[in-house]
Order: sequence, then C-alpha cells, then structure tokens
Amino acid sequence: MNEIGVAVERRGPLAIWTIDRPDRRNALSRAVVREIGRLSREARSDGTLRAIILTGTGELAFCAGADLKERQGMNEEDVRDFLSLYRVSFRDLDQLPIPTIAAINGVAFGGGLELALACDFRVAARHAEIGLTETSLGIIPGAGGTQRLVRAIGAAKAKELIIFAKRLKAQEAAALGVINRVADEGQSALDAAIAMAEPLLTAAPIAIAAALEAVDSASDLVLEDGLSFERACYERTLVSQDRLEALAAFAAKRKPVFRGK
Ligand code: COA
Repeated sequence: MNEIGVAVERRGPLAIWTIDRPDRRNALSRAVVREIGRLSREARSDGTLRAIILTGTGELAFCAGADLKERQGMNEEDVRDFLSLYRVSFRDLDQLPIPTIAAINGVAFGGGLELALACDFRVAARHAEIGLTETSLGIIPGAGGTQRLVRAIGAAKAKELIIFAKRLKAQEAAALGVINRVADEGQSALDAAIAMAEPLLTAAPIAIAAALEAVDSASDLVLEDGLSFERACYERTLVSQDRLEALAAFAAKRKPVFRGK
C-alpha cells in the first residue's frame, strides 16, 4: 500500500488510477478522496490525456466504500468535513471533460459505487457486486449516490436499490443499467475497460468534451434550455480544426487524425 493509497499509471493518452489499499478492500480514506480530487484537477489541464480508468488493486474489491476503520475515530464534525470533501472531489471527477471509466474489479459498495457513478462509464468483472448499502449502516449515501443513481437509472429503480440496501451481481446491475458492460468470461474488468477506452484514444477531444458536457446537462435543464446549451456546445466543435480534418479525411477516404484543436 503506498502512502496516499492511489497508484497512477500512464499509458500514452490513457491514465489508470488504482486505489491501492487491498488490506481495507480499497476503502476510501480522506487521503484517497483528496487524491482523486487532486488528480482530477490535474487531468483537466493535461491536453494529452484522452481517457481515464479508475480501478482497485486485486480481484476482491473495486472499493468497499468509506473507510469504516478511519470513520471510527471521527466525530460528527469530522464526518461533515469528510462529506464536503467527497462532494468536491467527486464533482471534479464527474465534471472532467475527459471520459472516465470505472473498472469494477470486485465489490463496489457505498462510496465505492458512488465513486463509480461519478465516472462516465462503468465496466464490471463477472464476479463484481455493487450496492448502495448505507441504510444498512444507519446512514444514507453521502457522496452523491441518491442523486447520481437516479440520474443514471431513474427514481423507481434507484429507490429500490437504496431503500433495501441491495447488493447486486454484475449481470443484474447491467440489466438495470447501473453497469454499462460486463467483462467477458476470463477477462478482467481492467482489460474490458481498456478495450472500451481504445476508440477514445484517437477520437476528437473537443467533440468528446462537448458531448459529455451537453449530455450531462440534460437532466438539469428544461428542454428549451437544454437545446440552447447543446447549441453552445456544438459551437465549440464548429470552429475546431478537427471538424475540418474529419471532412478532409472523409473526402480522401482516409482515417482522420485529430489534434484537439
Ligand atoms: N473500511 C475499512 N476496512 C474495510 C472495509 C471498509 N469499508 N471493508 C472491509 N474492510 C477490511 C475489513 O475490516 C478486514 O480487515 P481485517 O482483516 O483487519 O479484519 C478486511 O478489509 C477484509 O474484510 P473482510 O470482510 O474480511 O473481506 P471480504 O472479502 O470477506 O468482504 C466486503 C469484503 C467489502 C464485502 C466486506 O468487508 C463488507 O461488506 N464491508 C463493508 C462494505 C460496506 O458496507 N461499505 C459501505 C460503507 S458506507
């Protein structure tokens, strides 16, 4: 386990962030949550990054939620501070203009699933299990779960998961829409996530960022405002060199080479 608890690997335009606390099933300590926020802010200004994968060390846990051992030493005020830290860090991750994929390599409970929900996509190993289990601990999701799960799958299904503190297997979670893809038999969540990220590495970054922002705004805006926002996002692609490159490549029957300009 390194000191902060998040290992960072760079494979060209792809970054892999691994929560590295296997002894605590990759639970979220203050240091880990702070680091996820810091890495997200750093990534925002990195013009060479095209996709980010978040995962956990080992095959048992993506992340077992809040570090309940650290929590034991916290008073009410400490917990309030921790919730504020969650909010800022997960917001900075959620709002990244670079696609993020949670590679759920094992259990993702509580804050672990909330972390995955702050990513754009979720890919799970076949043996993975997910759940917002907080009510079984006498609390409720405090890192955005009640809001982001509703936006992902709708209120009726989210309510059932949250109120009954359900634990779902990967296939069931995929059927509900919580998980985008389940890895093939024998394939790790990380390998499945890398395969998913592959086309993003050469995609047009301005278009990807604009599309992410436009889609994310949809659940917060009434339709007319949403359409105006979409129009504003389109404008960024309209004035880009990448748009012209795509047209030129189409005419020349070759693959476009996007430069993010
Ligand atoms: N915070 C801190 N430590 C945790 C943890 C958490 N959220 N979850 C597990 N651990 C620790 C255990 O205390 C144990 O440590 P120990 O060896 O010192 O006793 C170690 O990780 C292994 O846990 P264990 O339960 O034996 O492993 P498992 O693989 O059988 O089960 C879980 C793993 C995650 C399914 C199970 O530990 C669990 O249900 N944890 C709580 C998850 C949860 O409800 N999170 C929501 C928090 S809001």
